[in-house]
Amino acid sequence: MNNKLHEEKGMVYDPESQWLTVTGMIAKNLRTHPLKPRPKRGNFFAARFDDLSGNTTLGCHVGEMPGKKNIGHRHVDEAIIMTLSGSGHSVLYQADNTRSWPAQHEMEWQEGSLIVIPINAYHQHFNAEPDKTPVRQLAIKNVPLLRSVFDDRAVIYANPHRFYERYHDEDDYFALSERVGERQWRTNYVKDLRTVSLDEWPERGDGISAMFFQMGNMCTLRPHVTEIVAEGRTLPHRHLREELIYILSGRGYTRIWQEEDGMEVRVDWEEGDLLSPPLNTWHEHVNLDKSAPARYYSVESIILDRLFNNRMFVEENDFIFKDRFSG
Ligand SMILES: [Fe+2]
Ligand SMILES: [Fe+2]
Repeated sequence: MNNKLHEEKGMVYDPESQWLTVTGMIAKNLRTHPLKPRPKRGNFFAARFDDLSGNTTLGCHVGEMPGKKNIGHRHVDEAIIMTLSGSGHSVLYQADNTRSWPAQHEMEWQEGSLIVIPINAYHQHFNAEPDKTPVRQLAIKNVPLLRSVFDDRAVIYANPHRFYERYHDEDDYFALSERVGERQWRTNYVKDLRTVSLDEWPERGDGISAMFFQMGNMCTLRPHVTEIVAEGRTLPHRHLREELIYILSGRGYTRIWQEEDGMEVRVDWEEGDLLSPPLNTWHEHVNLDKSAPARYYSVESIILDRLFNNRMFVEENDFIFKDRFSG
């Protein structure tokens, strides 16, 4: 029996998993995007974007918490959370199986904030204005990759292992903030992605600046922010990294193409949109505004960098994923 309810083009709700799943290459305005209840997670609404552009390693959902708090939990997947609207705080703690809880860490966040959830640390989010202003957050994760590798939910959600090298109850866990290179910042918290300072990135084009964040000792996710000057554009590039791009400000378009078969599309975007250039397609981002910069937050799945340790394999690879991009 097919119990899936087809909402509208590009969205399917499965009452069993309680997920509204979104497909396609772009999702419009995540701040107002339709969500569906997920009663198994309490008073919580969500939509899932794991399948954008046929991605298989990069998980993503938008969750909304109208009430006071969500249900505390932990998981082995890497996760970074950006707040789209509302404000509140998260509580974080490690624990062994004796259930003797160590001190907890509290982290406040608001619109534009980015925090990392260290793998397998218990965490719970609290809304600063319960029943008045819902909190809406964008969570990007590597859970599809872990599901493929282990094919066992318990490894991810019922795993007692403590990853000390990721999080060891350090007092300054969320205060850590240090430059570790050009366009490289090590931190576990960014107060506001919309205003964080960036370094010039001439290799990506004239008038391009960026900052890459090393967060939570993550091995598979690489977050960064890029800004394009008014009427500017990035140089064309491609990579064997699945990528999710959230538009923080501005309006423009991304040209996506494959040289080998002449396929090309233009995807227009504006503030609040989420897009994913299909794996290894050529793409360039263009700012259409004549007077203001455009800024986006990107997360790339760097599992192939990690496995092969070869930049050419990841960035200069001719393989075409025909099933992911048909123009
Ligand atoms: Fe979580
Ligand atoms: Fe890219």
